[in-house]
Amino acid sequence: VKELRLALIGFGTVGQGLAELLMEKRDWLRAAYGLDARLVAVATARSGFLARAEGLDEAELLRIAASGQPLTAYAAAGVKRWPTVREGLVATGADVLVEVTGTNLRDGEPGLSHIRQALEQGIHVITANKGPVALAAHELLALAARKGVQLRMEATVMAGTPVLSTLLEGLAGARIRALSGILNGTTNYILTAMSQGRDYSEALLEAQRLGYAEADPSADVEGYDALAKTLILAALVFGLPLRAEQVQRRGIAGVTQEEVRAAQAQRRRIKLVASLRLREGVEVSATSPSGQGPALPVEARVEPVALPLEHPLARVDGVMNALTVECDTLDSVTVIGPGAGRRQTAQGLLADLLAIARTRT
Ligand code: HSE
Repeated sequence: VKELRLALIGFGTVGQGLAELLMEKRDWLRAAYGLDARLVAVATARSGFLARAEGLDEAELLRIAASGQPLTAYAAAGVKRWPTVREGLVATGADVLVEVTGTNLRDGEPGLSHIRQALEQGIHVITANKGPVALAAHELLALAARKGVQLRMEATVMAGTPVLSTLLEGLAGARIRALSGILNGTTNYILTAMSQGRDYSEALLEAQRLGYAEADPSADVEGYDALAKTLILAALVFGLPLRAEQVQRRGIAGVTQEEVRAAQAQRRRIKLVASLRLREGVEVSATSPSGQGPALPVEARVEPVALPLEHPLARVDGVMNALTVECDTLDSVTVIGPGAGRRQTAQGLLADLLAIARTRT
């Protein structure tokens, strides 16, 4: 049995979801994958960095979090506390940093610094945090490569639905021309509710209660979350360091009940669609970024679109997300699955963890 020592930074919805999954699947991971994934550190802004060489008890951490206490209430022999993630990481000897602090799309912090610090120290990183990778995928992937470690981010796009592995591994060798998708669970949940005659703000409250929405849900409804995922796809699939200003963005805040109903009457559905399309005659590849030219080689948009019912994205409802890929060998491939949620996002982290366990000698 191979041991992987995990440091978990962030213990909100996603961090707790992963702790639950690690507990639930402890025996299954050992039996089916020969993996002992041991949580040796957990850090939050409120409690600092807590570590225990023998491992932390997930059930106890979850109980403390549910009671509203700081994690410093965790009492067991051998628990040490460091004021910063950097000091904690140096002292703990973790194999993998799981970065799941809240997404900040302005400067990516504090996740960006955590990821840099771990990679600098030769620690693998898996993350569900969209900010750092939307803003600095190139820098971080180059740093990981220099240090001979992996930076994996399956959970950043469509939660645990395996869309990045489909694009990068499943579709290896194909030339991808375009991507278009429903990449935000909260807005799709709201639009679906509206199409059933329900109220916008009531549906938003429900999406928040279900753990789909960002801490500040305007990131969802204004399209910034889908935009961040579009930047991640541009970096990974086309090798393009796209910036937010290069994406035309419109959210769903202005979409009215009347528009939703009018679209339905015409056998259409309004969806928040994110798209990346290579311009005619342009060739880019993940290994030779060509984003510096005078004209951007892709057209990038996030906007509400009234899709005809025959469109593969038109009937993707509720918290489901989907991505349609156009490429030379398969024409069109669509991946559909949950786009948000505690357990669903934790699945993406788990898949990344197992990918690291597979390649680690
Ligand atoms: N707020 C995001 C969504 C979470 O609703 O899709 C998943 O990235």
